[in-house]
Amino acid sequence: MYELNEEQKMLQQTVRQLAKDKVEPRAMDIDASGEYPWDMFELLRDNDLLALCFPEELDGAGADLLTVCIAIEELAKVCTNTSLILGVCKLGSQPIMLAASDEQLKKYIPPLARGEKQCAFGLTEPGAGSDAAAMSSRAVKKDGVYIINGGKCFITNGGIADIYSVFAKTDDSAGVKGISAFIVEKDFPGFGIGKIEHKMGIRGSQTCELVFDDMEVPEENLLGKEGDGFKIAMQTLDRTRPSIGAQAVGIAAGALEYAAAYMKERVQFGGPIARLQGLQFMLADMAIQVEAARHLVYHSAHMIETVGREASAVSAMAKCFAADTAMKVTVDAVQILGGYGYMVEYPLERMMRDAKITQIYEGTNQVQRVVIARHLLA
Ligand code: CAA
Repeated sequence: MYELNEEQKMLQQTVRQLAKDKVEPRAMDIDASGEYPWDMFELLRDNDLLALCFPEELDGAGADLLTVCIAIEELAKVCTNTSLILGVCKLGSQPIMLAASDEQLKKYIPPLARGEKQCAFGLTEPGAGSDAAAMSSRAVKKDGVYIINGGKCFITNGGIADIYSVFAKTDDSAGVKGISAFIVEKDFPGFGIGKIEHKMGIRGSQTCELVFDDMEVPEENLLGKEGDGFKIAMQTLDRTRPSIGAQAVGIAAGALEYAAAYMKERVQFGGPIARLQGLQFMLADMAIQVEAARHLVYHSAHMIETVGREASAVSAMAKCFAADTAMKVTVDAVQILGGYGYMVEYPLERMMRDAKITQIYEGTNQVQRVVIARHLLA
């Protein structure tokens, strides 16, 4: 079932080569500087990788989610920050792809597919993280515009993006059915960027607050109907969690590859440490987890596009298992390198720091377990 087709294999090879030649040499500097890597964005754009997220009729490449996951995995093997550029392109645009009218699609998607603009996803608030429905941003309709007040936090690509999928309450009394989704342009009056975060990992990806101060959003920028917002957010995350799983698989696979190569070169006790069975067992366990995670991610990417909501739990399993794998495998890879693994001259401590976010964003791994358990007990 998960035998990649010829096109997917070709793309995998192409992205692998691109990652080795152009991305890997930049990875350490991107992390050290903590600056957004515009050159990596341009690299993805110029190689039509951003287009993978969109259908051909909207200037995209018409790829399926599995293909997007393969590209993310290859980039994440060498640089999580660069893989996240593609990941957030998928995440920020998914609400539009799910719920936009023809006019909205034609207006907003082609510039994203061509890499002329960037997008982001605005759901999380200081008081509404795992409990996304507890958001306090409010949208009030008046004279053909929605006036939105409030704000968002921890927004990946915030301040870099031109277009934001934003969620706010249009009806306080209706619970989750009172949440609506909007397409917001960065130039709308009242839109502002707040604090830019300093982070443990994914340091080249900008994460910041969004501030809505009487922000004016034309009524034609409502996505779907009033009250559809929570469903759109959940459906979006169902479709993007496999791509975070793919990112996690990439980080883990990159760390595994590095540790295996190191074991063959590092000489202790009169020979390469690769002959030590204790380390061989560690390496084998890492490989088992990576392979299992990869298959679950591919399976979820395929399922979520074919069966929809029924695959929510599998999508959550893939994200959760792959993220836990990335964390465990990178910690073990640091251990295999010993003191060198702890040093910033080697990529493994960076991979370990980057792996951590995959257990947190797009729903903590505890939230993934909630989604899975609810599915089992429904
Ligand atoms: N698809 C469609 N509808 C869904 C759905 C889904 N997957 N999940 C829930 N719904 C619907 C439910 O059917 C229900 O509607 P009805 O009443 O009509 O049945 C409604 O939504 C409410 O559902 P719940 O009662 O399950 O909602 P809840 O408040 O208990 O929340 C939750 C469930 C799973 C915990 C949810 O809040 C959640 O996923 N939280 C995590 C949020 C998250 O992932 N944030 C990440 C932010 S983005 C990010 O991190 C990106 C980045 O930086 C890169």
